[in-house]
Amino acid sequence: MELDFYEITGRYDEVAKFYSSVGEESRYLRFLAAVRDPASIYSYMWSCGGRSFLVVEGRRPVALVDVTPCGDEAEAGIVVVDSLQGRGYGTKIAEVFAELLPRLGFDVVKAEIYRENLKALSIARRLGASVVCRGVICTVRLNLRQRALRGVAALKLVATP
Ligand SMILES: CC(C)(COP(=O)(O)OP(=O)(O)OC[C@H]1O[C@@H](n2cnc3c(N)ncnc32)[C@H](O)[C@@H]1OP(=O)(O)O)[C@@H](O)C(=O)NCCC(=O)NCCS
Repeated sequence: MELDFYEITGRYDEVAKFYSSVGEESRYLRFLAAVRDPASIYSYMWSCGGRSFLVVEGRRPVALVDVTPCGDEAEAGIVVVDSLQGRGYGTKIAEVFAELLPRLGFDVVKAEIYRENLKALSIARRLGASVVCRGVICTVRLNLRQRALRGVAALKLVATP
């Protein structure tokens, strides 16, 4: 799976093109609301310092990842195009962003996810995030600095004779 990432912050045309491959249910799961025209949401997100990254495989758009500053944390959202969901793209992209976000200046990432969104919750748990559910919404929080330190500790253990 060879993925490339392009920043498309401010590119309403790219966002509109991407969302033509994303159905109502996926939009609902992404934004926790029925969203017919994502442009207004992006206008707000980008005005708050949010950044958007288009993920492509070859020339084919695969997913859109949004990262918005929220205090010391980053709020992240991801949507994979409908026809490619359930094939491991979301997992791979989340792993790449867990490495990338500290370089963008964020040590903690959070996301609000519907309790019924098993794929998204599974990715969060696999990455080692804490998951706190209240009613139908779960707040997922991942400390990227601690995660990186755990990785280093694991490497040291493997290296110890
Ligand atoms: C949530 C989303 C990003 C996941 O990406 P994906 O590429 O579809 O998911 P993956 O194929 O990587 O699978 C993720 C996990 O779900 C599991 N899974 C796959 N299909 C599944 C299904 N139909 N039901 C339950 N679990 C499923 C996978 O086995 C994997 O679990 P694992 O980590 O234990 O191996 C994607 O489905 C999506 O864009 N959904 C709509 C928007 C959304 O919900 N965004 C998240 C909130 S911001």
